[in-house]
Amino acid sequence: MLNGKNILIGITGGIAAYKICELIRLFKKQNANVKVICTPNAMNFVTKTTLQSLSQNEVYVDQFAIEDFKPEHISLADEADIFVIAPISANTIGKIANGICDNLLTSVACAFQKPVIIAPAMNSGMWNSNAVQGNLKKLDNEGYHILAPEDGFLACGTTGRGRLCDIGKIFDKTVEILAQSKTLLGQKIVVTAGGTIEEIDAVRYMSNYSSGKMGICLADRAYELGADVVLITTVRVEKPYEIIGVKSAEEMKQVVESEFANADCIIMAAAVADYRAKTISDKKLKKTEENEITIKFVKNPDILKGLCDMKTKAKGKTPLIIGFCAESEDLLKNAEKKIAQKGCDFLIANDISRKDIGFASNYNEVTVFRSDGGMKKLEKATKKEIAKQIFEEIYG
Ligand SMILES: Cc1cc2nc3c(=O)[nH]c(=O)nc-3n(C[C@H](O)[C@H](O)[C@H](O)COP(=O)(O)O)c2cc1C
Repeated sequence: MLNGKNILIGITGGIAAYKICELIRLFKKQNANVKVICTPNAMNFVTKTTLQSLSQNEVYVDQFAIEDFKPEHISLADEADIFVIAPISANTIGKIANGICDNLLTSVACAFQKPVIIAPAMNSGMWNSNAVQGNLKKLDNEGYHILAPEDGFLACGTTGRGRLCDIGKIFDKTVEILAQSKTLLGQKIVVTAGGTIEEIDAVRYMSNYSSGKMGICLADRAYELGADVVLITTVRVEKPYEIIGVKSAEEMKQVVESEFANADCIIMAAAVADYRAKTISDKKLKKTEENEITIKFVKNPDILKGLCDMKTKAKGKTPLIIGFCAESEDLLKNAEKKIAQKGCDFLIANDISRKDIGFASNYNEVTVFRSDGGMKKLEKATKKEIAKQIFEEIYG
């Protein structure tokens, strides 16, 4: 399974460091090339001799051991297919999340462009701290694969969450990621995310509860599959791919349409407002003596329909157009009607009346409609998982 794969293992100063000897053995049994970087603190927990014997390679600790005029943090990052940091300490999580590069392991992590798995292990208090959770959230947003610790008896004598996850889990995740072929390499995928923001005056706006999570998960998945990704979003995010921030439907339409000619696939996951204020006051509207005020709204452009019309008129290669529809009643009937009306290649329908899925939730359950009349329900799962399945439906 791992024949010839270059796996870089990072070990930090945690009591679970000894368990990584078994992980190295598992990788070596599958014919992987394994190199190990330890933080200086990790050397208090495991010996170079053990790690060198198991990996059959030098163990790297010193940031300034420069060979062949190429610093170690660049050459180790260049040659590895994946970086597995286990156990990762609270300290190293904090450093990587904040771009601190004060030892070889953190410098390699900062320079690393390929998948990184991190398996934290620490005392429950540390795990539950706002600092650690905040730093992990940052890393999660940047696409790090986080294998959360498990509940159990901890080396500090307490019981709780913090134990390094099972070594088998780290092994399986590594195999899973390395097996994923970059099936979308060379494809340009444009995704929209978030609810549009329609200004009313200098300080007020109208929007909706869309968190942008589904669109962001789709963009992340496209990136994982090797695509050249552009995320057009009303929600601020930091990602390793191109992000274009927009506010209103009008602005989103202009940006999406400017990407049309070069895109292979456009996924419209944003929640675009149907209406916007007819006039936007550049000053704050003042409170009056009246008990009621009237704001006139006008229809926003239908971006999805506009893209489908562009596709009908265009000559030569055109992108696949994927729409989303959020319905609170008669989901299937309305979705079938919509795919015919708009003319998109796929329509993903989700039921926003359910509290356990949809808006702001980390979960979703959707039905994928195809223009040829086919449909498939994707059962409730995390938005990350649903994104994975949507790409399987689109690209087979
Ligand atoms: C006996 C002992 C066990 C420790 N175990 C852990 C641990 O499991 N997880 C953790 O985050 N820190 C643990 N620490 C604290 C780290 O070693 C410390 O934060 C250190 O600065 C980590 O350095 P590094 O991230 O550069 O390896 C432990 C310290 C000691 C003395």
